[in-house]
Amino acid sequence: MLEKQISVVKKAATAYKGELLVIPVMQDNSGGYMPGLAAELLAGLAGYGEFSGKSEQCLLLYPPFGTGLAASLRCRRLLFVGLGGAGDGDRDLLHERLRLAGGAVAAQCKAARVEELALCAGCDALSGPQTSLLLEGLLLGDYRFLKYKTPDPDEPSYDGIKTIEILAARGVAALKRETARVARAAAAVHVARDMANEPGNGWTASHFARYAEDLARRLDISCSILEKEDMAALGMGGILAVNQGSLQPPKMVILHYYPDQATETILLVGKGLTFDSGGISLKPAQGMMDMKYDMCGGAAVLAAMEVIAAERPQVGVVAIIPSTDNMVSGGALKPGDVITHYGGVTAEIESTDAEGRLLLADALAYGIEKYAPTCAIDMATLTGSMIFALGHHYCGFMSNDQRLSEKLASLGRACGEPLWRMPLDEAYKKQLKSEVADMKNTGGKAAGCVTAAEYLHRFVGTTPWAHLDIAGTAWNFTEKSYVPKGPSGFGVRVLIELVRNWQAGQ
Ligand code: BES
Ligand code: MN
Ligand code: ZN
Repeated sequence: MLEKQISVVKKAATAYKGELLVIPVMQDNSGGYMPGLAAELLAGLAGYGEFSGKSEQCLLLYPPFGTGLAASLRCRRLLFVGLGGAGDGDRDLLHERLRLAGGAVAAQCKAARVEELALCAGCDALSGPQTSLLLEGLLLGDYRFLKYKTPDPDEPSYDGIKTIEILAARGVAALKRETARVARAAAAVHVARDMANEPGNGWTASHFARYAEDLARRLDISCSILEKEDMAALGMGGILAVNQGSLQPPKMVILHYYPDQATETILLVGKGLTFDSGGISLKPAQGMMDMKYDMCGGAAVLAAMEVIAAERPQVGVVAIIPSTDNMVSGGALKPGDVITHYGGVTAEIESTDAEGRLLLADALAYGIEKYAPTCAIDMATLTGSMIFALGHHYCGFMSNDQRLSEKLASLGRACGEPLWRMPLDEAYKKQLKSEVADMKNTGGKAAGCVTAAEYLHRFVGTTPWAHLDIAGTAWNFTEKSYVPKGPSGFGVRVLIELVRNWQAGQ
């Protein structure tokens, strides 16, 4: 969890006496600077040609800072960070540059072990909401997972930024609200990354269940856990089949936030596969350890639910995380086995490594029947094929609904989690045809990410639904300054934004 103190104060940059004063600098169209304190400070440095204000560029200065207004600065260090141009009118691009600049500041803080800083809002060209985006990048970039590392006595320790002051000239109340929203979402991303960083022996289905129960208690929403016996009674043959080879009990974790006035419900489903060995269709040893990340969809849904429960929106939200690991044993699921999903659809197992769809199918079918949601969204590290298709920069999704697709694509772009729609089609579904059951669980090499989506499609009926395959974006995301190496927490913010922006009847 983030334990940071963030305050918004009406204070001049010259009155700040702390460790680091950050001044964002926007490059105007002619390559110069926007007017303000930065311009005055930078005038003397212009001759060096080292700092142009381009995106993510940083310049760290130590006192004395100069003459005039600069002479009255009281901070211990000063950091200029470039924002690039105005984004050529592309709002989303400008917002992304602000987050990137924030991530660059986090990297500088790490290098200088800065624990306390001030962001200068309004002293240059930044508006309040723009400052909060800079803060978002800073908070997202300031992440590390040190739980299993013994501190080195010879290395000075650094545990991240502790105190952030936002120096505003006006609009303090609005900025406080805005920064609180950003901080909640960033904390949720950290939660999702922490869960993902935990190894397979540190984060099991039971850990998901315990976390959800605790969250529900803290934030006063309801939580129910379907145990193995419950799943058997309900006929959830998909998740049970995947769990068959494991010594860890499976859990179907369900969180339910339902406000009195709500007429609509969003169903979120996240794949919580805590380790995917592939099962009897065993994965190659090389890179297998990355399969501890196969629970990133579940982590994103659970972390987003934390913000949703805290913010208490008008729309109801149900989160379901089907969770188990996928292991090998004498009792494990075998190729050729036939399973029966919740609701009665049967499937022939061609590969025990195509296990994610088996859990998701039960969870989607059950969630849709029980909660009759207005729409359903599932998020899963589902196929290697998605990595081949879109790599690590965009997350592909498939949907049976045009409006939901447009909403997701535009929110994703706005929050720096870009989503790209891919097709669903009866023609792909044919690849799943089985001789002995309703379907088989693999559709061959061609368009593996689409056939996986078609498998799920069978379980959603006419409910507007989108399937986000985060296999490429959940870790090794990009070289983004605000997404450190390791799990990205991708999907947390777009889910939060979807709920925040939800309007009934639309
Ligand atoms: N969890 C994997 C998908 C995956 C692979 C995510 C690599 C991230 C990186 C999933 O369970 C899986 O193994 N899918 C198979 C499906 C195939 C057998 C049809 C795959 O993509 O190879
Ligand atoms: Mn698998
Ligand atoms: Zn998997």
